[in-house]
Amino acid sequence: MRMTLLLLLIAPSLAQTPSRLIADPPSRSTIALDGTWNSIVDPYESGLSSRFFENAKPKSKSDLIEYDFDRSPKLLVPGDWNTQRDSLLLYEGPMWYQRYFSYQQKPHTRTFLYFGAANCLARVWLNGTKLGEHVGGFTPFDFEVTDKIRSGENFVVVEVDNTRRPDGVPGIHTDWWNYGGLTRGVKLIEVPETFVENYKLQLAPARADAVAGWVQLQGAKEGVEVTLEIRAGDLLVTTQTARADASGYASFLFPLKLELWSPENPKLYEVRISAQGDHLSDQIGFRTVATRGTQILLNGKPIFLRGVSLHEEAPFRGARAFSEDDARTLLGWAKDLGANFVRLAHYPHNEDMIRLADRMGVMVWEEVPVYWELEFDNPAVLANARAQLDETIRRDQNRAAIVFWSIANETPINPARNAVLKSLSDFARSQDSTRLISAASDKWQRMEADTMALNDPLGEYLDVIGLNQYIGWYGDRKPEDADRIQWKFAYPKPVIVTEFGGGAQYGRHGDSETRFTEEYQANLYQHQLRMLSHMPQLAGMTPWILMDFRSPRRALPVIQDFYNRKGLISDRGQRKQAFYVLQKFYQEKAQEARSGQASK
Ligand code: GCU
Repeated sequence: MRMTLLLLLIAPSLAQTPSRLIADPPSRSTIALDGTWNSIVDPYESGLSSRFFENAKPKSKSDLIEYDFDRSPKLLVPGDWNTQRDSLLLYEGPMWYQRYFSYQQKPHTRTFLYFGAANCLARVWLNGTKLGEHVGGFTPFDFEVTDKIRSGENFVVVEVDNTRRPDGVPGIHTDWWNYGGLTRGVKLIEVPETFVENYKLQLAPARADAVAGWVQLQGAKEGVEVTLEIRAGDLLVTTQTARADASGYASFLFPLKLELWSPENPKLYEVRISAQGDHLSDQIGFRTVATRGTQILLNGKPIFLRGVSLHEEAPFRGARAFSEDDARTLLGWAKDLGANFVRLAHYPHNEDMIRLADRMGVMVWEEVPVYWELEFDNPAVLANARAQLDETIRRDQNRAAIVFWSIANETPINPARNAVLKSLSDFARSQDSTRLISAASDKWQRMEADTMALNDPLGEYLDVIGLNQYIGWYGDRKPEDADRIQWKFAYPKPVIVTEFGGGAQYGRHGDSETRFTEEYQANLYQHQLRMLSHMPQLAGMTPWILMDFRSPRRALPVIQDFYNRKGLISDRGQRKQAFYVLQKFYQEKAQEARSGQASK
């Protein structure tokens, strides 16, 4: 048993060398490069041929330089550009960012330039030298600059292009605002010559009495000792050591009984890792998540996921969210709703959101933007999606709150798509055997009058099935028709209704048949919750959506004004009637769970 477990843990990571993304726990030594940056909007992308990355200045009065970052408009980083200047609200294309910073090189120190995210293609130069490119608008990336950074003044130039592309992930069509820019923080990370590149520590799969994990060093010789401590406040719970192999990889497996993380008790332990002069610490919760038939088990006990979906949109200011304050407001509203679970749609949200969910005890569904129609027969699409999934897992693999890796949303059923999604689910499993793999499908069909069935072959590759249905909003059925509807699922697995809902403008009132009134939305929720209460295999739900959000697809004047109004809360934080309908339902569900527990 121990041997197979060890093989299980080692084999996959040895097979697939991890990307060089370095883990960024708060204990790292960093220098923030956030703040005001110079910017040049470049719709015709002339900046490449004009070599904007050189940040050149005329050397004589006859010199021809047709750009000047210092006299160009400013943009704040982190932040999307769309909501910083009216003229950029709908801008899609290349934007050049530039800033100066002074730095002091230190002996025996390696330096990385780290980006939390840039939507969507980023080209990066330091002091005029190209560092590289990154594709994917919602995951971090870094470049080593040890031999390119200098003591004294430096300048960094980043071209960010959020042009939607048919071969992109996501592709051309989405129902969210295509916020462009350096949407998350930028910083320098300093580490010793031998350092902890990344690590993973969690309870061994399906075992609540053993801890398993690994530490990947960079710049280490074979045999370097890696020490791992787990602490509960001042109490040292355990110290474990292992020796790194020739690739700098050290694995751990040891028996240990820990207090388990759960929404009711979001217990985090301090984990300290040291290796040859590098020291870092992180806050990690320990829990197991699994399925048993059509149930989802948290720490071995069945749990109902009382959830809500949300976009990474900032409350009150209608912009891309990026801060812990934004996250605290959104997760606070979800908790007020009675939620113990959130679906972060449709792309990885910022790390502050995930770390806060860890601390607040909110379970998380994290998704990569394999959304709607993509060029599934184009190998570049799989490579892109897989790279985003890899970066997501490498960033968040130590977050107890994350219980699902979701590989897709509402994709068309065809052989190329099925193959891509199988490959993504296999990859996610190979990188992380401690979480559940899922995806959201809206490919259900009417079998008989009031019987609907989801037979999407995607279910084969998933641990849990996600169902999106908008009965009572899209299509020809009235909200009350939901009462009679029966559901069938091709796979005997737990089902989460990952989307249902309808639009309402806060403060718009009328009878429950009038679209976009709060009464219509509340009535729709009443009937949806009735339908879900007799849905087989149901293990959770994440109604669409916590808060109204910007979408270029929603053009109805006065009511939508380019906002998707399916929020239970308006973008100004006003709670609609349906919020209280769902809140009451979740209170009853939570009470049921408590009394269920008590009777055990
Ligand atoms: C879809 C989709 C969402 C979209 C929602 C809607 O199901 O997954 O991204 O916003 O429906 O139509 O409001």
